Amino acid sequence: MKPPTVTFCLAGLLACGFASAQDKPMDAPLKSEPFGEIDGHAVTLHTLTNKNRLQARIMDYGGVVVSLRVPDREGKLADVVLGFDTVAEYPEKSQYFGCITGRYANRIAKGKFSLDGKEYTLATNNEPNHLHGGVKGFNQYVWKGTAMETADGPALKLVWSSPDGDEGYPGKLDCEVTYTLTQGNALRIDYKAVTDKPTVLNLTNHSYWNLSGEGSATVLDHELTILADRYTPVDETSIPTGEVAPVEGTPLDFRKPTVVGARIGEDHGQLKNGLGYDHNYVFKNVRDGKMIHMATLRDPKSGRIMDVDSTEPAIQFYTGNFLDGRTGKGGKPYAHRSALCLETQTFPDSPNRPSFPSPVLRPGQTYETTTIYTFSAK
Ligand code: GLA
Repeated sequence: MKPPTVTFCLAGLLACGFASAQDKPMDAPLKSEPFGEIDGHAVTLHTLTNKNRLQARIMDYGGVVVSLRVPDREGKLADVVLGFDTVAEYPEKSQYFGCITGRYANRIAKGKFSLDGKEYTLATNNEPNHLHGGVKGFNQYVWKGTAMETADGPALKLVWSSPDGDEGYPGKLDCEVTYTLTQGNALRIDYKAVTDKPTVLNLTNHSYWNLSGEGSATVLDHELTILADRYTPVDETSIPTGEVAPVEGTPLDFRKPTVVGARIGEDHGQLKNGLGYDHNYVFKNVRDGKMIHMATLRDPKSGRIMDVDSTEPAIQFYTGNFLDGRTGKGGKPYAHRSALCLETQTFPDSPNRPSFPSPVLRPGQTYETTTIYTFSAK
C-alpha cells in the first residue's frame, strides 16, 4: 500500500506554487491602495483586472496608466507600457508616460492663439512652442478617482476641474475621464468635459507601448498599420505647416502593415523635422463622435496585437525619439525608440488653423470622445 503522505505532499506542492500562473486564483476585479504622495497629496493606485487576467494599474496622479499586462500567443502576460515603480519618479523623469495629457495635448505655435477676437498667451515650455498643456498640465494633478464595476468590466472614473485661467487657458473646465478594462480585452478611455467660457481643448492618453514588454530594447521591429491617407507635415519645430498632405510615396505611408524601423532612417525632410516619426495622421475634419478603426500594432515575436479605434479626427504617431536610456520600472533602461505612442487627438496647433477640426468648446456643449485599445495575440 502506498504511503498516504506522498499523495498528500504532491497535492500540497501543487496548491502552494507549483501550479502554472494560469491556475493561480483570480485577482479581485478592483483593488485600490496607497501609492505614496506628491506635493503633500496622497496618491492612490487602482488595479483593474478583467476575467481573462488582463490587468491595468492606473493612478489618480495624472490619470497615469502605470502598467498594463496583456497575454502573448502562449497566454504569457507582460507589461506593455513604460512607467516607474514609484510616483516620485514621474515628475522627475517621465516624458508624459501613460498620462492624461491636457488641457491641449500636442503643440500650439509660439504659445499663442486667439478665440472670439481675444488673444491668449500660454507657456512656451517646448521652445518656441507650447506643449501638452504647459508647465503644469493635467498630468501633474491628483484627480479624484472612483473605482467601480460596470457591465463592460472594471473601471476607474477620474474627475478634475481646471480653473479659469489655468496655464493661460480661458474657462473653468470640468473633466471626467473613465478607463474601463473591458471583458473583451480592451482598455477603453471615455473623455468628457464642460466649460463655463469658450475654450480650446484636446485630451489624450500618452502611453508608450512596447508589445514585447516594457524595457525591451526596441520597438523598431514592431509592425504597424495606420489607415490614414493623409498627415499634417511639420516644420523643424514640429508645428504643422497647415498643409494636409498625402502619405502616398513617402516613408510616412503605413496603410499596409510595415515594420516601424524599415524606413525611419531614410533621407526625408519630415523624418528629419520629427527626429523620426512624430506626426499627426488625419482621418477626418470634425469631432463628430463616430468611431473609426485607426491603427494596428503587432509584435511578431510575442504575437501581441493592439488595435486602436477612436472617435477623434487624428492620431499622433511618435517613435520615442526623446527616450534616452534613463531607467524605468525594475531599473530597466528605456532606450531611444524602445517604445512608441499612438495618441488619438485633434490636430496640433488647431487653435491657430481654421482649416483644421475646431478644438473649441463653448458653454452648454459637452466634449465627448472615446478611444479603445484592444489586445489580442496570434
Ligand atoms: C509627444 C510629442 C513629442 C514629444 C513627446 C513627449 O508625442 O509629439 O514631440 O514631445 O510627446 O516627449
